[in-house]
Amino acid sequence: MILNKITNIITNRFLRTPDLRFLKNNIEKNKRIKHINFWLDKSSRNKNFRKYFFDPSRNSDSLPNYIFENYKNSFSSEMFNSLKKNGIIIIKNALPEIEKNEVLQLFYELKNKNYSSRWNNIPSDVTDKSLGKVSRIRGMINIDQFYILKKYSELITKEVYGKKVEPTLEMHYIKLQEYEEETLSKGDTYLHTDRFVPHLKIFYTPTEITLDDAPFEYALSSHIIDENYKNFFKNAVNFDETDNDSKKFIKKKIKVTVPQNTLYIAFTNGFHKRNVFRKKGSERYMMYLQYVKNFNKLNYIFS
Ligand SMILES: [Fe+2]
Repeated sequence: MILNKITNIITNRFLRTPDLRFLKNNIEKNKRIKHINFWLDKSSRNKNFRKYFFDPSRNSDSLPNYIFENYKNSFSSEMFNSLKKNGIIIIKNALPEIEKNEVLQLFYELKNKNYSSRWNNIPSDVTDKSLGKVSRIRGMINIDQFYILKKYSELITKEVYGKKVEPTLEMHYIKLQEYEEETLSKGDTYLHTDRFVPHLKIFYTPTEITLDDAPFEYALSSHIIDENYKNFFKNAVNFDETDNDSKKFIKKKIKVTVPQNTLYIAFTNGFHKRNVFRKKGSERYMMYLQYVKNFNKLNYIFS
């Protein structure tokens, strides 16, 4: 029990993937430079990271297609190539009907606050109570419950991180319940970057997302780690589109409006956001697969 607690503290506090907190707390430039150089130097020794983040060059004029149909519940070389250059790929008809419906059922549980035993813990209401915000119910669930989703996760982590990494899986049901229009939130509805080290997230929606449904937005190629990218993090204040230097990366933006049963993979060290809801009563079902917990500092150093 105590040993478990200690292990958890070490994992969460000391080994957690480098994030932007250190940079936000240290505006002294030399400290920042050392920190960024250290972690990016370690990351660049991972040959898979090199292929996806360090080697591609930023050229927003000749980018390949990033929207694909399901390819045997797997990835084609075109998909990998597109991910490398764009920092995002979208896969339509991603899950078999039966698995999509299971996901949908779980979202109905969140919506109706009527929970089965499939969740890791009882889902919680994590609504930001300030003016103009969406209501948000969050549930955590084990990836083993989703056969094809797990397969996608294993294949893509092997390709991008260089080894299979187990995701943490969150499901968020959000709704603009009380307001006519949602207000902007830092780190969510501003174009922002999550981390400066190579970083991957998978999103899955069982339902259609139109312009009215707060679609994800991504600045193509903004994940590529070059000198401009490093300088941005050395100087940034907010680490989002309100920093002047961000204009160097935010060139071609796409809004991810998609049909039901779509999966998308994005490198969220690049610039991204969720658009705001503009219609009272709008709602969104989104599943997130993240790798921060199981690909930590040690992995960035030794992989
Ligand atoms: Fe983000």
